[in-house]
Amino acid sequence: MFQALVKAKAALGPRAAGWVRTMASNQLLVAPPKALLKPLSVPTRLLLGPGPSNLSPRTMAAGGLQMIGHMHKEMYQIMDEIKEGVQYVFQTRNPLTLVISGSGHCALEAALVNVLEPGDSFLVGVNGIWGQRAADIGERLGAQVHPMTKDPGGHYTLQEVEEGLAQHKPVLLFLTHGESSSGVLQPLDGLGELCHRYKCLLLVDSVASLGGTPLYMDQQGIDILYSGSQKVLNAPPGTSLLSFSDTAKKKIYSRKTKPSSFYLDVKHLANIWGCDGQPRMYHHTTPVISLYSLREGLALLAEQGLENSWRRHREAAAYLHGRLQALGLRLFVKDPALRLPTVTTVAVPAGYDWKDIVSYLIDRCGIEITGGLGPSTGKGYPGKASPPALRPPRLPRSPGAALMIPLGTPLSPVPVPTVSLSGSVDGPPR
Ligand SMILES: Cc1ncc(COP(=O)(O)O)c(C=O)c1O
Repeated sequence: MFQALVKAKAALGPRAAGWVRTMASNQLLVAPPKALLKPLSVPTRLLLGPGPSNLSPRTMAAGGLQMIGHMHKEMYQIMDEIKEGVQYVFQTRNPLTLVISGSGHCALEAALVNVLEPGDSFLVGVNGIWGQRAADIGERLGAQVHPMTKDPGGHYTLQEVEEGLAQHKPVLLFLTHGESSSGVLQPLDGLGELCHRYKCLLLVDSVASLGGTPLYMDQQGIDILYSGSQKVLNAPPGTSLLSFSDTAKKKIYSRKTKPSSFYLDVKHLANIWGCDGQPRMYHHTTPVISLYSLREGLALLAEQGLENSWRRHREAAAYLHGRLQALGLRLFVKDPALRLPTVTTVAVPAGYDWKDIVSYLIDRCGIEITGGLGPSTGKGYPGKASPPALRPPRLPRSPGAALMIPLGTPLSPVPVPTVSLSGSVDGPPR
């Protein structure tokens, strides 16, 4: 090899001299990492935290399919199918519906970076970490951010929202439908209409709620809605769903300034997702394999039907809540009507450190639940009722093995696991 390069050097003259010197005189500073020379090791875990969820066999199989080009016509076909799936799960006819190549935060950032302009008034429901994040991004974009701060566990009434709208005259209101850090389900009825009366757009985070509880983007007057792939859809994290109403689109398309992000500029994204009727152009390389999995997650939900999925989550959550309370545990969200069916939060019992409970379950039972996040850290630990349409990974049969609903099992009575503080997990026998 070296000989060949020396010969090439002679033939090519001084132009190639530098290449040969580089190849010959430099030694590698960094050796191949030993850790990478061992096989990949991934533990078997039952993911009962607020997300990500275990993959369904179908989303997992989709992730093992061969790559095709992100601009091949077959890929565009798959993207079109995904778009229809998003319109179904969001219950929207918005043409500007697409998928972001990034996690839920990226969809939030895409919404804000496109809709907000510097100086815009932005009203934010901060009743947990997701409102904090929205406020943070809004500040970075130079918006005038008006947080409506509440303790974790709180939600917003129409009256409170109206006071905020009247006082701050925002162009945009942010609310979290499923506050996964506190377990609160924010009622959405009436909010769209109220916002529109005040010429304000309504932006809703449905990362933790989509597919698990009723949500009707168009009928509820939601202008911008986003969600993630890794929760009820049981697909890998890293892609997110986003849709804009015609009114939101008008605000974006009449901006005085370009959005500060090229990657998240909705005009470019609308093109690659076939929303603008123009030939699709290269913008960025989309995560082809993750999109296959997302397509399958959406397909599973479409086959099951939204209403069935909502019902199964409601029944599974009711069962879990009953069993937890029967064990003497207190649910963090007091009003049953405000409990998010996809994420159950349990108040940390006096005398226990939440970290010990979380570690015990993961180390002894291979089960993930988590502590709170942001303002709810240490106050409760979210976990979810069994993802009802999903066969979980095989877990070791130890005093903690989980009993779950096999695919297709009739759901009455709903056999979901209950998590006890002694670390055991039990449920009706299979
Ligand atoms: C309600 C909610 N919003 C936003 C996010 C952020 O999503 P990601 O972690 O995919 O960026 C999460 C993640 O758990 C969430 O639960």
